[in-house]
Amino acid sequence: MSVNQAPYPLSRFRRTRSAAPLRNLVLESTLSVHDLIWPVFVCDGMQERQAIASMPGVERLSVDLIVGAAQEAADLGIPAICLFPYTDPSKKTELCEEAWNPDNLSNRAIAAIRDAGVEIAIMTDIALDPYNINGHDGIVRDGVIVNDESVEALVKMGLAQAAAGADILGPSDMMDGRIGAIRAALESEGHVNVTIMSYAAKFASAYYGPFRDAVGASGALKGDKKTYQIDPLNGREALRCVERDLREGADMVMVKPGQPYLDIARQVKDRFGAPTFAYQVSGEYAMIEAAAANGWIDGDKVMLESLMAFRRAGCDGVLTYFAPRVARALIG
Ligand code: PBG
Repeated sequence: MSVNQAPYPLSRFRRTRSAAPLRNLVLESTLSVHDLIWPVFVCDGMQERQAIASMPGVERLSVDLIVGAAQEAADLGIPAICLFPYTDPSKKTELCEEAWNPDNLSNRAIAAIRDAGVEIAIMTDIALDPYNINGHDGIVRDGVIVNDESVEALVKMGLAQAAAGADILGPSDMMDGRIGAIRAALESEGHVNVTIMSYAAKFASAYYGPFRDAVGASGALKGDKKTYQIDPLNGREALRCVERDLREGADMVMVKPGQPYLDIARQVKDRFGAPTFAYQVSGEYAMIEAAAANGWIDGDKVMLESLMAFRRAGCDGVLTYFAPRVARALIG
């Protein structure tokens, strides 16, 4: 804080707030369509749209419709789309083999968007939960989520996504050592320009509830994810995880959830300077939508304000289910 600030009335903060041009002149941050990554849910079928009860306004889309959605996002100037598959329960196994099937739903969606020539970066999720009969992000043996064997599976999963045409791999599993292992495999398989956005500071959060409905993982999950995701009380541990992932070769890092963890985003940006993202997760989306549906808040205004807060906190971009709506609001 400036110690040279003149005392009132020489200094009046309301002067630069007194009219729109002056307010615009002193803006400290910006919110642009280039700051958005749009997470979408993919399901089987053709021309299939499925509503998600806990995420009003968000739908699962079949691969053919996802291509159109990606094109729509690209036309709005949104730089990236992030794919999450709703996997048929019959394909879920203990060892999660479907995760690295080159023809799984997610990889088919990547290839379809690529084949259609849509100019958008394609981001993926690397975690075993959509394919796991136990609903966990890692392989479960005797009730324990085993780390190193899970990392081997995650590497195979990431390589299959890179081969399908993904641009940004998003390991969201929180196993130790996965960033280094995935990076090394990408390098040795010739995918040198495939990037990694690590879910580096991912907290064990109740805000993920609606997402687990969206990908059909709620029923399968036994117990919680506290043995691998970070405790919401631990900010320093989160920073150490970010540092570790950057040292292992993450190109970009993410804080998740978003709004309740803006203090972490700010510290990550200040301390490491790396491209820093936050995920405005399903529960954050659902809360805004629910309050807006009740007429208790102005949904569009809160949507924009919530995203401005990420930018003020130092985030380079935000994964948000609101992405196309925000883009339209910004375009005006
Ligand atoms: C799965 C994954 C989750 C989210 C993204 N990837 C859920 C979880 O860890 O249980 C949450 C996204 C959201 O809530 O919007 N590894």
